[in-house]
Amino acid sequence: MKSVCHPGPWGPLPLLVLLAALAALWGPCASRSDAPRGVANPFVFDPQARCEPACRHSGICIRNSTCFCMRGYEGETCQYANCYPKCKNGGQCLRPGKCRCPAGFGGKYCHKVTCEGGCWNGGDCVALNGVATCLCLSSWTGNKCQDAVCPQGCRNGGSCVAPGICSCPDGWVGGACHTAVCSQSCLRGGKCISPGKCRCRPPYEGPRCEKRRSQDFSLQKVKGR
Ligand SMILES: *[C@@H]1O[C@H](CO)[C@@H](O)[C@H](O)[C@H]1NC(C)=O
Repeated sequence: MKSVCHPGPWGPLPLLVLLAALAALWGPCASRSDAPRGVANPFVFDPQARCEPACRHSGICIRNSTCFCMRGYEGETCQYANCYPKCKNGGQCLRPGKCRCPAGFGGKYCHKVTCEGGCWNGGDCVALNGVATCLCLSSWTGNKCQDAVCPQGCRNGGSCVAPGICSCPDGWVGGACHTAVCSQSCLRGGKCISPGKCRCRPPYEGPRCEKRRSQDFSLQKVKGR
């Protein structure tokens, strides 16, 4: 089965020619004396023509098994809608000029890529292998670029709240929450190793390394005798 397609978006001229031919064949009201009869036209129109299956979308059966399609349709039985411009990014032409877009694409011709919920913090929505994807600035990550990146890491339960900025739990400070805080400072060279806990240099001990070890006391006592 063949189809005669409308040549494109340039107007209804062939259809007018066809209608003129129809009128010339059938229309008694069109048979004015000056109207040319049986004029040469691009269509051999057979009023007895049979098209099986029938022409769709108002296509006209002009010869046996030949449909003349209305503008916006094509195919043997005018079964396919066509869209100009063509649907982009895998969009499907539903009816003339109306594209159905796959997820992640929008706009009249599916030419716009859309990331659901948008891209945050300066991220760009782009199509990567046909999938709408947020392209994040280097200091942000996550599918919407919603998570800040702390290249130094946030330790001891800290969380990255802005690029390079950790929010630290109580008792920890520093760019990576790596420094413990001892509310009373450690004495005699002791080091604060976790909140409120000193690691003492020998021979000192105690919460603040303020005492000498008892062993050394006894030694001193022995010496002191
Ligand atoms: C069209 O088909 C019909 C029936 O199939 C047939 O009778 C007729 O002769 C055909 N017309 C032409 C022009 O082939």
